Amino acid sequence: MRNSMNKEDLKREINDKVRSIDEALEKYLPGGEEIPSEIHRSMRYSIFAGGKRLRPVLCLTAAEAVGGDSSSLLPAACALELIHTYSLIHDDLPAMDNDDFRRGKPTNHKVYGEAMAILTGDALLTMAFGLIAECSTSGDITPETVIRVIREVSAAAGSQGMIGGQVVDILSENKSVDQDRLKYIHDHKTGALFKASIRTGALLGRGSEEQVESLSIFAENLGLAFQITDDILDIEGEFQKIGKTLGSDERKHKCTYPAVFGLQESKALAGKAVERALLSLRDFDGRADVLRYIAKYLLDRDR
Ligand code: IPE
Ligand code: IPE
Ligand code: MG
Ligand code: MG
Ligand code: MG
Repeated sequence: MRNSMNKEDLKREINDKVRSIDEALEKYLPGGEEIPSEIHRSMRYSIFAGGKRLRPVLCLTAAEAVGGDSSSLLPAACALELIHTYSLIHDDLPAMDNDDFRRGKPTNHKVYGEAMAILTGDALLTMAFGLIAECSTSGDITPETVIRVIREVSAAAGSQGMIGGQVVDILSENKSVDQDRLKYIHDHKTGALFKASIRTGALLGRGSEEQVESLSIFAENLGLAFQITDDILDIEGEFQKIGKTLGSDERKHKCTYPAVFGLQESKALAGKAVERALLSLRDFDGRADVLRYIAKYLLDRDR
């Protein structure tokens, strides 16, 4: 067990991980001049527009929380960022949320056009599974574990996971929905990929089944708290910080926590989800401190 780290150490650790993820993405993505260059420039535009890299950071950090070596699973961590970025490009399309800004820049379809934005999402999603498969070339990860991760990430990203959440999100526009349906949307459109990111890290980091299960509960609660704060930032955030146009949910009459519970109650519910997340880490030592820090930071994030 390592010595417990202070806040500055934890921040530095997260920044170091973001840097290694960015370097790996730079290496894995085809160069902007590679044919067909239009799509490679478009993939790079959205990937390097300035996302927080939360899902790959959670993946690497979960591996370390179970005592694993995170460097060997960088390809899988990057794969989760590719799937996330694809989901954002499609989420912003006129047929979906119809948004003009993402990560502080014009949305992909505003720059490259709708056809290229759809294809860019397709390319990122497809590439992700090839990258996860790359992990089997690392000596300490068994092919069986890689296959399990591919199966789990596929389920989490698909119609019974993230896409299922997006479907119900779209079908719920302009409707008053009950709390169960609201929770379904958030657990699926956002929670599923958080859970897959953390389980990928824990499985490839060779955590025990018990550790993987505890981290899954952590991830479910973190994902819910994250999407509730995303809903809140759509109302109370600053454009300069969140990099997205405010009021998008209200304009589309989206089913959000503030719309159903009001702002104050939504903040309280996010706080409770973070408490449950922290509780699920009770059997972990100081190696889970980065996860604890991320959970606490969530509540007063401004981006
Ligand atoms: C935005 O995710 C979409 C949601 C699921 C709320 P992030 O807030 O993690 O977006 P980036 O990756 O930092 O741009
Ligand atoms: C997006 O939820 C979830 C996915 C892209 C899977 P939102 O529509 O709330 O995300 P933002 O606010 O556009 O980032
Ligand atoms: Mg949406
Ligand atoms: Mg959106
Ligand atoms: Mg939102």
